[in-house]
Amino acid sequence: PGNRLMRHYLQFKDLRAEEYAHLFDRAAIIKRRFKNYEKYQPLQDRTLAMIFEKASTRTRVSFEAGMYQMGGSVVHLTTGDSQLGRAEPIEDSARVISRMVDIVMIRTFEQTKLERFAAHSRVPVINGLTNEYHPCQILADLFTFIEQRGMDRRGAIDMDCLKGRVVAWVGDGNNMANTWLQAAEILGFTVHVSTPSGYEVDPAVAGIKDTRCYKVFQDPKEACRGADLVTTDVWTSMGYEAENEARRAAFADWCVDADMMAVAKPDALFMHCLPAHRGEEVAAEVIDGPQSVVWDEAENRMHVQKALMEYLLLGRIG
Ligand code: CP
Ligand code: NVA
Repeated sequence: PGNRLMRHYLQFKDLRAEEYAHLFDRAAIIKRRFKNYEKYQPLQDRTLAMIFEKASTRTRVSFEAGMYQMGGSVVHLTTGDSQLGRAEPIEDSARVISRMVDIVMIRTFEQTKLERFAAHSRVPVINGLTNEYHPCQILADLFTFIEQRGMDRRGAIDMDCLKGRVVAWVGDGNNMANTWLQAAEILGFTVHVSTPSGYEVDPAVAGIKDTRCYKVFQDPKEACRGADLVTTDVWTSMGYEAENEARRAAFADWCVDADMMAVAKPDALFMHCLPAHRGEEVAAEVIDGPQSVVWDEAENRMHVQKALMEYLLLGRIG
């Protein structure tokens, strides 16, 4: 309470490049401790409230397990089992919840709802996915890329491994796509975006100033050509279910298959935030194939979010 230096993590651009370098260093250390069964509990007596207005597997497990491992505890709220579902104003919910816990994670619909909560919160607020952004996922994706391409045997990280890289985004111009663009602008790589028409990314919504950080391709295969990383996501995101049929028709050619991977760099990685639909946005041969790092990517949610909570609550360590 009353912390003048309080920071929120509402979108990827809320942190600077050098803060990302710090978070990835910390995530590597925290991950190593976890793998070695070394106790690391700097968040004893701290409580995380998690508010879910949409479904989740990874976000819930990673935040909940991560907070317990760091010595803290969690409170899990959903729309249906709290007063949020009975129209208690979000501002009032923020005032009350943030008087009792130390940090809050929210998964909801409009980004404005998250911003209204943060504006009335006494404690740091983390975006656990909104219609517009999914910054914790991109944090995990970047850390996964760095582990593969920019980490030495001793676990030291080289942030330059991201510079000048090409990430191919195949599919919806959604929360994940917007967040990739923000990351590209901050960390110095390019996103090759291919979406069906009508589902393009909007740079205004993505919230980027420098449109040179992405290139648009009509043909998804051309977006993959020469890419260091190929990534995609569901055709229909949570909250857009009414558009399901129209989307199935529009996205039919936006399936990441072996032909698309074949034109990417020979050592290109494949990522997917999950949950995945084999035969829709990705072929089984790709997601279950040798270039796929989706299981590391999912696990890394926990390690990077532990580093993020440590940073927001305790500041820079080490
Ligand atoms: N990737 C991701 O956020 O997964 P969940 O919806 O399962 O949390
Ligand atoms: N774009 C997807 C991501 C799920 C983790 C959605 O918003 O539903």
